[in-house]
Amino acid sequence: MTAYPVRRLRRLRQNPVLRRLVAESDLTPRRLVLPVFVKEGIDAAQPIASMPGVAQHPLEAVPVLVEQAVSAGIGGIMLFGVPEVRDAVGSGATDPAGILNRAIAVAARAAAGRITVQADLCLDEFTDHGHCGVLAADGSVDNDATLEIYARMALAQADAGADILGLSGMMDGQVAACRAALDAAGRSDVVILAYSAKYASAFYGPFRDAVESTLTGDRRTYQLDAANGREGRNEALADIDEGADIVMVKPAGPYLDVLADVAGVSSVPVWAYQVSGEYAMIELAAAAGVIDRERAIGESLIGIRRAGAEAILTYWAIEVAGWLNEGR
Ligand code: PBG
Repeated sequence: MTAYPVRRLRRLRQNPVLRRLVAESDLTPRRLVLPVFVKEGIDAAQPIASMPGVAQHPLEAVPVLVEQAVSAGIGGIMLFGVPEVRDAVGSGATDPAGILNRAIAVAARAAAGRITVQADLCLDEFTDHGHCGVLAADGSVDNDATLEIYARMALAQADAGADILGLSGMMDGQVAACRAALDAAGRSDVVILAYSAKYASAFYGPFRDAVESTLTGDRRTYQLDAANGREGRNEALADIDEGADIVMVKPAGPYLDVLADVAGVSSVPVWAYQVSGEYAMIELAAAAGVIDRERAIGESLIGIRRAGAEAILTYWAIEVAGWLNEGR
């Protein structure tokens, strides 16, 4: 007699209502954050060639984007600035009239507490050499000199009205430096999102077009080596000790093991950034007809959720929130 299996794992997969009921992970609009590029000196949106569907926006468009984010019910927007002029020390980053600080102010006014306004806290868009910090005489990135600028940048962004500061420069001690500056200025209300485990990645390629990066060389002396998982966890734990309110892993898809590991040990919320290259790969593969676009987007995001991200920065935030709001 045939021995039939007693344990039938297919039982819970037999129809859509059962599958929906037993799904372990799900996406919700509130968990999605939209990165937004604001460029100085333009008066209409400029498409980014390497990121089909994503554009650089003029300052005037920011209230419109905020309204879209509010109606979609997403968790917030993450602002990046693209300045007209750059210099060796990234002066535009600390100047209240710099494009990013102005964008924060416009966004904060428009949002009026309905979504969080988040800002990238890093020098790479503001330096003429494109590094995330200032350079020492020998051309290396000077960690501690950079911390002083980050601290001033944190205050400028807080003054402009940012709710959450996204520390993405990967300098040692950056969370402590910004936390101390904010606390000393009476701004202990400002949330620090630490891009703790930020890997030196080819998947940032399209982003560098989006912010017109001038970088030659790479960021391997400060961003993590793709070979190292334990180091990613150490970075997250160090940032929590320094006062980070939220920690993040970035990129997301190629680093799901690090994300799961950090999610397992973190005492604070853990987020992930689905970066420009992850976006572009799916868009271009779908445009070439080799992949189902919507299913691939959904699967990429649910994978990041399943690995442990509680919120996800993704260029598809508004579109995916729209699907979710329609019950898809
Ligand atoms: C640094 C920063 C980068 C990204 C977000 N913040 C680029 C880098 O480190 O080179 C990448 C985001 C993406 O690729 O979507 N300001």
